Amino acid sequence: MSDSFAAMWDAVHDIGRNPDTGGYNRFVWNDADQTMREWFAGEAANRGLDLYVDRNGNQWAWWGDPAAGDALVLGSHLDSVPEGGAYDGPLGVLSSYAALDSLRTKGFRPDRPIAVVNFVDEEGSRFGISCAGSRLLTGGLDPERARALRDRDGRTMAEVLRRAGREPGELGRDDELLGRIGCFVELHVEQGHDLVDRGHAVGLGSEIWPHGRFRFDFTGEANHAGTTRMEDRRDPMLTYAMTALAANKRARLTGGEARATFGRIEVEPGGTNAVPSRVQAWLDARASEQSMLRELVETVTRLATERAGRDDTSVTMVAESASPPVRFDRALASRLAGRLGGVPVIPTAAGHDAGVLSAAGIPTAMLFVRNPTGISHSPEEFAERDDCLAGVAALAACVEEFAGGAT
Ligand code: GLV
Ligand code: MN
Ligand code: MN
Repeated sequence: MSDSFAAMWDAVHDIGRNPDTGGYNRFVWNDADQTMREWFAGEAANRGLDLYVDRNGNQWAWWGDPAAGDALVLGSHLDSVPEGGAYDGPLGVLSSYAALDSLRTKGFRPDRPIAVVNFVDEEGSRFGISCAGSRLLTGGLDPERARALRDRDGRTMAEVLRRAGREPGELGRDDELLGRIGCFVELHVEQGHDLVDRGHAVGLGSEIWPHGRFRFDFTGEANHAGTTRMEDRRDPMLTYAMTALAANKRARLTGGEARATFGRIEVEPGGTNAVPSRVQAWLDARASEQSMLRELVETVTRLATERAGRDDTSVTMVAESASPPVRFDRALASRLAGRLGGVPVIPTAAGHDAGVLSAAGIPTAMLFVRNPTGISHSPEEFAERDDCLAGVAALAACVEEFAGGAT
């Protein structure tokens, strides 16, 4: 098990990695993402698993006949955020393959089909919608809307899909495939400190906070940075700046129950010596309760609008994606907790394909692996190798628990 994990880790280590920063840039359908997909297909072939690429581009490596139904699905994603860490996504896919390897070495034969899945475009780094592959699969993202989404170079998803040799018209909900999934278990690096604080290598997920992405368009008037008197400006950067501060303050006022982040802005025309004409800014907001999330976003939008009135600018807000609260399947979790013995059960404020599948009614569980830095979406994200192997062992135990079988 440790050899197979180590070999896979080494094989993907340099793919899409910025050697100067150690950060990963694997964005859906870019060269690095394609290389990761080739790697996934190669690993399936090495194990004699049947590779299936669904209409939305998600990759499935099947052990057993998918048509038999009630499959146990393991996996995660292989794409990254800009300058992301090595573990968010790939750890779950590699661990799934490694768990199957350890069971096959013991002669395990499952009594239901098993698949390892690589969900395409989980981070939404290129087209802005997180979990696009699983949302399309489950019908949570309208295919027409998806095809029209544009990346930062102005290319639509449809164009990018065609360039990648895919047929954009195929995007959409896939009832046949969904009907074959009995349950889904996603292993993921932890993106906080909980497991460190509790002194456990592995934990089980209880729930995902509701969250969403909200685009704010601030509009003003471009003008000269030197000759325009301060009182004559219509500067949307000021309106944006106040909005970012207000979002931070509002989230902090909840006493730890909400998060608000502006992690991306685009400024036009983007000249150092020009008052901007437009600022686009994306708010990522999350909260422990749906009502609190709604109130947070409404308040930030209201404060932005009021400030725009004072700045003589304007602002509009568009909700680009919304993820409802998710409570993972209690029966699955309690069986897994019994099997794994004494593992902590922890909530997360991070989004996952597991949340999308769960929201679509598929019994779903998550396993988390301790991250000593507590940092994620950054090259500082980390997991000790022994903890990774504990995660693999937990996944293997999960397969034994849910896919019975003979050894
Ligand atoms: C995914 O990593 C998210 O929570 O944004
Ligand atoms: Mn992530
Ligand atoms: Mn992830």
